Amino acid sequence: MPDNSLTIVDNRTGREVTVPIVDGTIRATDLRELSVTDGDGGLLSYDPAFLNTANCRSAITYIDGDAGILRYRGYPIEQLAEQATFLETAYLLLEGELPTAAQLRAWEDEVRLHTYVHTNVTKFLEGFRYDAHPMGMLLGAVGALSTFYPDAKNIADPGNRRLQRVRLLAKVPTIAALAFRHSRGLPYVYPRNDLDYIGNFVNMTFEIGGRHEPNPVLQRALEILLILHADHEQNCSTSAVRGVGSSHVDPFSAVSAGIAALYGPLHGGANEAVLRMLDEIGETGNVPAFIEEVKGGGGRLMGFGHRVYKSYDPRATLVKRIADEVFEQTGLNPKLEIALELERIALEDEYFVSRKLYPNVDFYSGLIYQAMGYPTDYFTVLFALGRLPGWIAQWDEMLNDAEQKIARPRQVYVGAAERDVVPIADRG
Ligand code: CMC
Repeated sequence: MPDNSLTIVDNRTGREVTVPIVDGTIRATDLRELSVTDGDGGLLSYDPAFLNTANCRSAITYIDGDAGILRYRGYPIEQLAEQATFLETAYLLLEGELPTAAQLRAWEDEVRLHTYVHTNVTKFLEGFRYDAHPMGMLLGAVGALSTFYPDAKNIADPGNRRLQRVRLLAKVPTIAALAFRHSRGLPYVYPRNDLDYIGNFVNMTFEIGGRHEPNPVLQRALEILLILHADHEQNCSTSAVRGVGSSHVDPFSAVSAGIAALYGPLHGGANEAVLRMLDEIGETGNVPAFIEEVKGGGGRLMGFGHRVYKSYDPRATLVKRIADEVFEQTGLNPKLEIALELERIALEDEYFVSRKLYPNVDFYSGLIYQAMGYPTDYFTVLFALGRLPGWIAQWDEMLNDAEQKIARPRQVYVGAAERDVVPIADRG
């Protein structure tokens, strides 16, 4: 009997089946051998919400949720946040290695070449209501890009896939900025290719009358936040990109599915929900009562808890540090006090301690975005800009993985047994 194997005794039949263990996993399809009758298909594994199922092999991001470790391609997130730019991190995620200085320059130029969007995209955005949520605008417009680049359907060609990845990286900030201007009723500002990636994005959002004085501390803080969000292995939105991409649709459609998944308050929408929660709490004196309400089942403490991290989210540690630098520039956000008090009480409270609920990346990021001048409903768009390299790196990895097929989970049918349709006139 090989050491790296698992022997299962099926007590229904007395049959013993030995299945290999590879990388700490067994293959769910090996359970098919455990059948009771010929043709019953064998045993299924049942795992709602994928609590304990690996869906792929990936070389992109490593997380140890108990130890609070996050690495992209082996590099600790702390070192990348300290030393890398966002486009450098994107290159790392997509190409597998950090670029040399010459490669980085070429990469930046390549992305710059694609920052403009077709004028019809701006017309399309103009069609949204004045109060349209910018995430809805972003997901619609990114999906619509597939109609502007029908060549993107050719996903079997690695060169073509690369071109679409560059287009996405270059154009999503432009669309995100157009959505921002739309919601404020401001005229659109077009990309400035003399600026770097972050500088150009900030300029497209905040320029008024041809002027914008960039604050390098705030721009670097935004860049670090985007780096911290750049990938997070098989989270809800990345799984959406992989799942939708597994049908071999073009990457614009797959990424727009990722944006839709990110929009939800349990995922990227949490940063927006945190600010709304802080507004609702109003002042530090109301924190204990709010915590009691959460414990009694009256809602969640937004920005707390994580499926994978069962200790302090390493990104939250870095975000807290960035918050100090940003508030030094902008003055203190009064809601920070409420957030700090929430964290202090929650980290001492048995309810949160026993469930290993710690602040996640979204707990403090909204406060920083607000201090930078971004409105609450725009926070998740900033998360999307950050997560984009991860989505497209994972999409490409999936298409290069010979084991992957169209994602198609199984189910346990619990509905009615076969029955006959009763003519409508006879239905009581
Ligand atoms: N506040 C209060 N209770 C919570 C919270 C919270 N934020 N999160 C989890 N719990 C409780 C939950 O009620 C459950 O308790 P019990 O065992 O008594 O039923 C227990 O902790 C386990 O929760 P779960 O829902 O089974 O955990 P999950 O892994 O399915 O959910 C989560 C993870 C992130 C969706 C959840 O912690 C949550 O809703 N957090 C608030 C939303 C949030 O901040 N999301 C951002 C996640 S990080 C950024 C990102 O990746 O998008």
